[in-house]
Amino acid sequence: MQSAVSTLDVKKSSFGTHRQNITVRRPEFNFDQLPKYYFNNNPLLSHLLTALSLTFPNGERFFVHAVRNVRDQVKAKDLQADVSAFIGQEAMHSHAHEDFNDFAKRIGLDVQPIIDSEYAKVEQIKEILSDKQQLAVTCALEHFTAIIAQYLLEHKDFHEQLHPDAARLWMWHALEETEHKAVAFDVYKEVFDDEVVRKRTMRIITTTFLSRIGFITAKLLINDKKGRLQFKQHWNAFQQLSQLAKALLPVYLDYYKTDFHPNQHDSDAIADEWRGRLFAS
Ligand SMILES: [Fe+2]
Ligand SMILES: [Fe+2]
Repeated sequence: MQSAVSTLDVKKSSFGTHRQNITVRRPEFNFDQLPKYYFNNNPLLSHLLTALSLTFPNGERFFVHAVRNVRDQVKAKDLQADVSAFIGQEAMHSHAHEDFNDFAKRIGLDVQPIIDSEYAKVEQIKEILSDKQQLAVTCALEHFTAIIAQYLLEHKDFHEQLHPDAARLWMWHALEETEHKAVAFDVYKEVFDDEVVRKRTMRIITTTFLSRIGFITAKLLINDKKGRLQFKQHWNAFQQLSQLAKALLPVYLDYYKTDFHPNQHDSDAIADEWRGRLFAS
């Protein structure tokens, strides 16, 4: 993979938390040889990841928008530097997942209406919600991406099931989500620090995010004649998903603790390992 274009090595934030390196990279991907069921030949799990990917370009542009809205109120220089790196990483993710979503179109999945509807939803949220609420939504979704990313990095029985061309995208994205997992949260703490809104927003986002991903996955599967009848594979998918849910529940719930900070979930060692695996030159 191509090497990093800029590195911000920030070890301490204004809140005294330990930070990881946040590095903006521009890797290139090729999905020409990717099979339709790129997750271990499993239709449901492949469509689930595709559903996530379909929400990413608009969703991650929204995260950037929410942080940019208030960045002029961030006084800490370290955090300003992290915000720049966060914006750079999320912008790269949006581009890469647009390419991945083009692969989904090429193999005949009807994804454009889903992408259009995601765009409309995000535009509506930008109009209706206050700056504080938009940032609280971003923090909640960044918590989801961070805990899922850490699970993906740590569980080789999970990531080894990905086709290598898909694994490069998903593991790169997972690594960078762990690198910048505290940025939106620290901005929220510095600018608003409203615990009631932070926790209430997470309750709302949990319902809307999970039901939306479930809905998109079901839609992709229902419209996939060949995939929807593979009941043995569906059973296998449900088993893997219940394992995932069981592992993630406690770390998800940590978000509701008053003294919660994303860096309390130590991902330094696993991120180091994956930086080496993906980018060692
Ligand atoms: Fe991202
Ligand atoms: Fe992110």
